[in-house]
Amino acid sequence: MMKVGMVGWRGMVGSVLMQRMREENDFALIEPVFFTTSNVGGDAPLGGGRLLDAMSVSELAKMDTIITCQGGDYTTEVHPQLRAAGWKGYWIDAASTLRMKDDAVIILDPLNKHVIERALAGHAKDFIGGNCTVSLMMLALNGLFREGLIEWISAMTYQAASGAGAQNMRELLGQMGAAHASVADLLADPASPILEIDRRLAAAMRGSSFPTEHFGVPLAGSLIPWIDKDLGNGTSREEWKGDAECNKILGLPASGEGHVPVESICVRIGAMRSHSQALTIKLNKDVPLAEVEAMISTANEWVRLVPNTREASIRDLTPTAVTGTLHVPVGRVRKLSMGPQYLSAFTVGDQLLWGAAEPLRRMLRILLS
Ligand code: HSE
Repeated sequence: MMKVGMVGWRGMVGSVLMQRMREENDFALIEPVFFTTSNVGGDAPLGGGRLLDAMSVSELAKMDTIITCQGGDYTTEVHPQLRAAGWKGYWIDAASTLRMKDDAVIILDPLNKHVIERALAGHAKDFIGGNCTVSLMMLALNGLFREGLIEWISAMTYQAASGAGAQNMRELLGQMGAAHASVADLLADPASPILEIDRRLAAAMRGSSFPTEHFGVPLAGSLIPWIDKDLGNGTSREEWKGDAECNKILGLPASGEGHVPVESICVRIGAMRSHSQALTIKLNKDVPLAEVEAMISTANEWVRLVPNTREASIRDLTPTAVTGTLHVPVGRVRKLSMGPQYLSAFTVGDQLLWGAAEPLRRMLRILLS
């Protein structure tokens, strides 16, 4: 049986991965070995004996495969040591550290199983989950990518707090509580003036006691129009990933002929764990809307075409509707007034499931098949 080292299984993405692996009975097919950075010798889950030291290259090197959700700093420190020690196992990683390396594959098998299989045949060993926003956008548009119909995409994202981390989710809720508390007495009185509520709330949100340690600014009742690092050229790192990762996932060139430009403005909003995106797509030819819808809705088993009506959109096309599921609804699909090749779409997906954990366990399944 394949010996699979599990690292970072207790964090947020790791916990979702563990849950999915249990649900899909993945542990029956492997010999899991659990590692830790903080509790060496403690009890491993699933009756798996003692926890091993995640910093021990010699212990890690006994694994056939390592799956890590420990984060980028861990990958930066441990992966080069393991490879330098001659370890030839498969490294499956949720962090972005290795994604753009030439010999690493970004895994999103419903779209790029051919790229993964070609890489395996070429003895690739590093398989890295993509950025959540990119993976969710690509699953949503799987049908259009498969038909080679996309000339370019513009994505306006509405990204949930979980993408920034567990502490940020807590802080968002703390901000919601602080916002409510600042006006609770006024809210209790149905006759209190709304502009007084608004004035007091704005003062509280701008005040120094509003909890902003992790986001740096208020998110609840507001939004943050920048995600990840400033690349110094007017784009954020999150926006850069949209283009770079999308093309790498599909095995397309990084620029020029055959490249699909993806431009974005990435925005943090006060959703908990599902990212949304408003997409403008230029098709490379005029395809009837009904055919576009059929391509989108039949591309994979997770995508759900939501009729472009008010009722269906507000019911089925929201973070609240999607959270905790693998569904990727796509709605607001219509041709735009700019011309018959211009299409709009809106999509939502759980950024911890398809956006992070699911591609990792599916890669393991590919290795086992
Ligand atoms: N970078 C993403 C975000 C999550 O901040 O929402 C991880 O892919």
